[in-house]
Amino acid sequence: MDVKIYDKLAKKYDLATKIVSFGIEELWRWMFKRELKKHIKNGVLIDVASATGEMARAMDFDKMYLIEPSSEMVKVIVEKFESLGYKKENFEVIFEEIPAIKLKKSKKEVIIIQDTAENVKLPEKADLITAFMALRNFDDLEKGIKNLDKYLKPGGYFGIVEMVKSESIIAKLILWYMDNVVPLIAGLLVGMKEEYKLLGKSITALKEEDILKCFKNYSIIKKKKLIFPIATMIITRKNERKNTECKD
Ligand SMILES: C[S@@+](CC[C@H](N)C(=O)[O-])C[C@H]1O[C@@H](n2cnc3c(N)ncnc32)[C@H](O)[C@@H]1O
Repeated sequence: MDVKIYDKLAKKYDLATKIVSFGIEELWRWMFKRELKKHIKNGVLIDVASATGEMARAMDFDKMYLIEPSSEMVKVIVEKFESLGYKKENFEVIFEEIPAIKLKKSKKEVIIIQDTAENVKLPEKADLITAFMALRNFDDLEKGIKNLDKYLKPGGYFGIVEMVKSESIIAKLILWYMDNVVPLIAGLLVGMKEEYKLLGKSITALKEEDILKCFKNYSIIKKKKLIFPIATMIITRKNERKNTECKD
């Protein structure tokens, strides 16, 4: 995915998302967080395709790695966590040759790495990976999930909320709304018509089977369509087996 579009959207992303989704995306996030917290309350979190860092802010774990390739989104994440009382440790902290921005608030740490799911390297394994509206942005779904899997502890959770292809009429109407109406609203309210047009074109909805086949070494804890059948929540738990691969 061309991250330049997200660079352009970064500063107005939170506001625009609330407006064009009529708050539904926030409801999905709330449902996702509520489900995840039933299984795991704290620990090390990796949030992938973090955009402005809303998922990490909601989860509020003691140690959080945010993986986001857009430099403008990274700036917004830093500002957001600073406004929550986090302080930048050093502008650039390099650990094991991984450039990152680290912020701290008493015992809590947020580490932002400007990279993609496919290429990121991390210094430790996590208890939970969150991918909220993230997977469809990966350039290579299998490579991204395989790479992230390396950084999840056995027994760790991988939680996903994603828009998936659906044959239902409501889903088709929502896709039509996103392609045709969202750019108009985004144009009127936040001056971002062209960016949202491009975004609509550049995003391909995934098939649920294509996601699930990458989680053969995981147990599916929960799989649920969220209100409006276009989004699915999948909570998985990594088995003791070693690496994952996408298998039919
Ligand atoms: C729809 S937003 C994600 C929303 C976000 N997870 C949230 O909780 O609000 C998609 C994000 O994916 C990022 N992205 C694009 N390509 C990526 C890749 N290959 N790996 C990880 N993130 C990517 C974009 O820069 C963008 O910020």
